Amino acid sequence: MIDLTGHTPFGSGANRDCYRHPDNPDRCLKVLQPGAIQARAAEQTLLKKLLGRRRLSDNFQEQRAYDQSAIRRLSAAREDQLLWQHLPRFHGCTETSLGVANDCELILDSSGQPAPTLEHWLGKHGLDQPAREAAERLCQWLRTTGILTRNLLPQNLVMTDRTGQWELIIVDGLGAPTIPDRLAVMPWWRRRYMDRRIRRFWLRLEWEASGRTTDWKLAGKL
Ligand SMILES: Nc1ncnc2c1ncn2[C@@H]1O[C@H](COP(=O)(O)OP(=O)(O)OP(=O)(O)O)[C@@H](O)[C@H]1O
Ligand SMILES: [Mg+2]
Repeated sequence: MIDLTGHTPFGSGANRDCYRHPDNPDRCLKVLQPGAIQARAAEQTLLKKLLGRRRLSDNFQEQRAYDQSAIRRLSAAREDQLLWQHLPRFHGCTETSLGVANDCELILDSSGQPAPTLEHWLGKHGLDQPAREAAERLCQWLRTTGILTRNLLPQNLVMTDRTGQWELIIVDGLGAPTIPDRLAVMPWWRRRYMDRRIRRFWLRLEWEASGRTTDWKLAGKL
């Protein structure tokens, strides 16, 4: 078991804390924050509660998301370079002193530090040329691979120059809710789902870069 006592997360979201792996500095351990599942359970409808608590865990959802058909297909075809161009490699679950962690590649920048989020980048530089071009390449990759994501949010993407060119990597929000995931066996439906995610992404980028001046709920309606 990995002892994370005394370690400080390098990043946190609303549900998980992310630690640098003590023995593998290029790996990231994501553990659920205490109470994350209970807090989500409190918001669920009775029907969703009946489906069980495990599906409320972001770590469980992420494991399922990495098992999606497009990723399995690329992996079986040994298209590794294409597959991991915009995704951290996933190494499964690991026991830690803070509970079971998802163990994945830690995305670093060229100086060896955890890469900044796109949210941070937009706050600092706006939607500048490197961010715009990186976003275009990410969208192209999504269309080429058919990999499904939830809404692409700037806090769930990191900007890295590890290859000498700024690229966006999806560190959270992979996969689709159960019903869209099932319907995506139909190519036209998959394309429609992805087109919507991509359109919303560009709206979100413009909204963040404009300093979030309007209400996102109105700006984000499509
Ligand atoms: N593989 C990674 N490489 C580099 N940084 C990462 C990685 N995974 C997460 N991070 C950093 O940690 C932060 C929190 O991680 P993550 O988004 O997975 O948490 P979460 O609680 O699931 O988020 P949310 O609030 O969106 O539910 C990210 O915004 C990012 O800054
Ligand atoms: Mg997140």
